[in-house]
Amino acid sequence: MAEAAAEERRIVTVVFADIEGFTALAERRDPESVKELLDACFGRLVPVIATFGGHVDKIIGDELMAVFGAPIAHEDDPERAVRAALALAPALDEVDPLLRLRVGVNTGEVMAGAVGPSLGYTVTGDVVNTAHRLAAEADPGEVLVGERTRHATAARVAYELRGDLDLRGKRDKVRAWVAKGAMARPMHRGPDGSASPLVGRAREVAEIRNQVAAAMADRRVEVLAVVGEAGIGKTRLATELAVLLATKPATAQVLWASCPPYGPGGDLNPLADLVRAGLGVAPSAERGTQERLLAERVQAVAATTGTDAALLRSRLGLLLGLAPVSSRPVEPETGPARAGVTEQQLGAFCTVLAHLAGIRPLLVVIDDLHWAGPGLLRFLAQVPDRLAGHPIVVLGLARDDLLERRSVLVGAGHGRSTRTLEPLAPDAASELVLTLLGSLGDHDGPARMGPAALDRLVTAAGGNPLLVDQLVRYLVETGTLFERGGRWQWTADPAGNEADLPDGVRSLIGARLDVLPVDERLVVSYAAVFGRRFWRDAVADLSGVPDIDTLLERLAGRGLTQPIPDVGYGDHAFRHVLTRDVAYASLPIGDRATRHARVAIWLERRFEAVHDPAPIAQLAHHYERAVVLARAVDHTDPGLSEAAFSALVRAGRDAHHRHGLGRADHWYRRARDLGSFDPDQMLDVAAEHGTVLLELRQLDAARDAFEELHRRAGSHRPAVQATAAAHLGAVARLVGDVELARERFELAAAMWRVLGDVRGQIDMLRLQGWSEITVGRARAALPRFQQAVALEEQLGQSPRRGETLQYLGWCEFLTGESEAARAHLWAGMSHAHDADDQSSVRWCFGLLALILLQAGRASLCLDVSRNLRAVSSRSGDPWGEWTSATLEASALVSLDRLDEAAALAGEAENRFEELEEPWGLALSRLVQAQAARLSGALDTARAVLSQALESSRDLPYVGEDARLVAELARVELDAGRHPEAERHARGALA
Ligand SMILES: Nc1ncnc2c1ncn2[C@@H]1O[C@H](COP(=O)(O)OP(=O)(O)OP(=O)(O)O)[C@@H](O)[C@H]1O
Ligand SMILES: [Mg+2]
Repeated sequence: MAEAAAEERRIVTVVFADIEGFTALAERRDPESVKELLDACFGRLVPVIATFGGHVDKIIGDELMAVFGAPIAHEDDPERAVRAALALAPALDEVDPLLRLRVGVNTGEVMAGAVGPSLGYTVTGDVVNTAHRLAAEADPGEVLVGERTRHATAARVAYELRGDLDLRGKRDKVRAWVAKGAMARPMHRGPDGSASPLVGRAREVAEIRNQVAAAMADRRVEVLAVVGEAGIGKTRLATELAVLLATKPATAQVLWASCPPYGPGGDLNPLADLVRAGLGVAPSAERGTQERLLAERVQAVAATTGTDAALLRSRLGLLLGLAPVSSRPVEPETGPARAGVTEQQLGAFCTVLAHLAGIRPLLVVIDDLHWAGPGLLRFLAQVPDRLAGHPIVVLGLARDDLLERRSVLVGAGHGRSTRTLEPLAPDAASELVLTLLGSLGDHDGPARMGPAALDRLVTAAGGNPLLVDQLVRYLVETGTLFERGGRWQWTADPAGNEADLPDGVRSLIGARLDVLPVDERLVVSYAAVFGRRFWRDAVADLSGVPDIDTLLERLAGRGLTQPIPDVGYGDHAFRHVLTRDVAYASLPIGDRATRHARVAIWLERRFEAVHDPAPIAQLAHHYERAVVLARAVDHTDPGLSEAAFSALVRAGRDAHHRHGLGRADHWYRRARDLGSFDPDQMLDVAAEHGTVLLELRQLDAARDAFEELHRRAGSHRPAVQATAAAHLGAVARLVGDVELARERFELAAAMWRVLGDVRGQIDMLRLQGWSEITVGRARAALPRFQQAVALEEQLGQSPRRGETLQYLGWCEFLTGESEAARAHLWAGMSHAHDADDQSSVRWCFGLLALILLQAGRASLCLDVSRNLRAVSSRSGDPWGEWTSATLEASALVSLDRLDEAAALAGEAENRFEELEEPWGLALSRLVQAQAARLSGALDTARAVLSQALESSRDLPYVGEDARLVAELARVELDAGRHPEAERHARGALA
């Protein structure tokens, strides 16, 4: 199979079948007859595998190995495999009832491709061995199934637990299940009465409903196809319509049939199902009963349509599989016998529909038309002519990725039309997420989730409700999404890019990718390395495909990718990030490593060429992945490692500079994990990372980092040792160990004095002051900053003088010495300006604006903070930008412009959530609560404050809580709930 020649990682289900008793039999027989018997056995078994869409990988002696999911995936491969496994034994029975089969089935990830000297296509991996061992453990006649297969098929197959087995060659026990039997027919997701209420789709439902009503009113027959990708909600939409039309006042009778994806059954089976539904002949009844019912009902049909009852009955009997085999064909044929019989059945079918439509207009839904056989599709094309004049609407539902079938199935024409079902709009998808989470969480009522976290989920699923459903459940099951205090959140980013995907999502999307032509798939697999967004030029360069534009157009036509405006991440994007993730997951690790390295190098060149700074975080990401993945498959490249290390450090510094503490921690951590050959560099990076950890208040991690730094610096890097000592002092102060803190700071101070390093002393004093403020003791911090400022003056031309003054001003502001604060902040600003330290300039400005607000000069504060917001935004400092916005909102509260204040603070809240900044979150919520309280919305104020208290739990500063609780007291006071107010007021004071 040329298309699958490349090696890939795939999720497959492997079936092993072992003919039991064959060895004994072979001993007693001549080799020739043994060979004959084997041929007969496999002659029966192989077609069973094929019927269910599997691939016979090999036959060795009396064993057969089959694979479902490679080279071509189906979304339901595990179910197909178990059904095939269950069908094997009965097939063998027909050869010789003495022969019994032991069957093992297992699902998991494998490498697929040409493997080994024979270079034939096969799959390799632990999954294969386990399936083999399961077969060996099975009793004769039994199908033994592994856990992952069972999990995927539990709704369709009955199982009995066998137990946790010790399998030869396996370290851990393997849970095994005996498959007892499967539901009669493969049923695709049908009308499911799903728990989630319908979201979005109001327009679609109304439009189709009108179209159906108009056709019925005019007694017209109409075929309407609704096409869209798997899981987009075609069946759900049709279910909704069916319910609307069939419930009071009933405007139509609804008949529903689906085309099964595989298995036995003729082309016209769905039509037979429609007749059964229309005439009330249930397939579950005794055969005799069915025959009797059919005979009865046919009388009425014959009467209204003027047809011959006996003829109609025999033709319908054939269609429904109720006619005795010997009676076929039932009447003399003129044309080719087979076609004639079919034609007669179709005629009988139309008669039944015409009869039913005479009673009440008909809506006929045929679901999963993409699996329909050619006969059914041909028939549908004729429906408008054959049933003209009857009030019948045929609603066909189909996936649109089977393009070659579209011509017959869809398209406009006489009595035919098609509409495409688009993804859900973001707000509808968000609603779906929240409903689902609500049903999965511990709290009653709708779930709550921050906008950034929600957006991440909605974007991932790309408006596809099935993906939303699978993803949400999976993330909750694996603990990646969790509920805290009634609010859903993501756990911190997983280590890299290889987040697991649920099997369901992987096979659903994998099935779509497998049908792509080789060159389109190549484009997808290179684009996937970039991420959701990628550049056309890059993919063309790296993949070497000759005609990238045509290929991208085709992929866009299939709804897989789309062009996007380039804002620095690419000019094209995958429609679903999950498509990208699945394509990426199928790349072997070694290939991923090489491709990430090539992407990093491509990025450097491109940005060099256009004289832009390379997007530092992207570079760091690709370099890091290149090295880590290469190491995972035991490759090392020292040059690449060094490039990766320095890219990671630059990314960490950049993020720290922008107050992105979480991001900074992420990059520094990776840099340190990767390591560098240069021990001095490692020390510097450990110190920088420690500072970030301290600011994040991850005190244990910070302590570890600085202790390690202290040890590793040894006596040959005394300055590093002194830095470490000072930071260990700060850690001790933050955990409340005053004594230890003092010791550490004194040690550090002594070391700086010995070294004669004034800069070091200043830094230490600032750190000491900062840690006092952090524990809520601004007064104790004051002398430290004053000393630091005095030392700066000694230094004279110090680039950080402005910053030190800013600290002093901040501290004075906190202790209520506004006059001194104002003077020092002005001075700080002017020094910072001279030293081109824009960040300090903005800080000083912000603090000055705050002082203005406190002094009651709200409109001046408003102007200053508004300017500051604009400046911060221009300098790419989102922290500064939204801190200023929050201040601006505070000023608006003072000016009694409450609505504006609430809106602005609300927006700031969203931004702080994206920035993962608990301090900003608490503050922006406080301002919202104030606005709500003053406008009399006390319940809102209470709710926002409780959220604010929630976010202030992660806060690196004490004292914020008190402000929140004090506000809560004011709310209760306004509400006239004095005892509560007093309780909160006391809490705030404490
Ligand atoms: N608008 C919606 N609101 C809520 N849930 C929805 C909506 N649309 C679809 N769903 C749910 O999403 C899942 C997938 O929908 P559905 O089975 O209708 O997709 P489909 O387009 O028929 O897919 P396929 O091509 O695989 O048959 C179902 O569980 C369905 O209930
Ligand atoms: Mg469907």
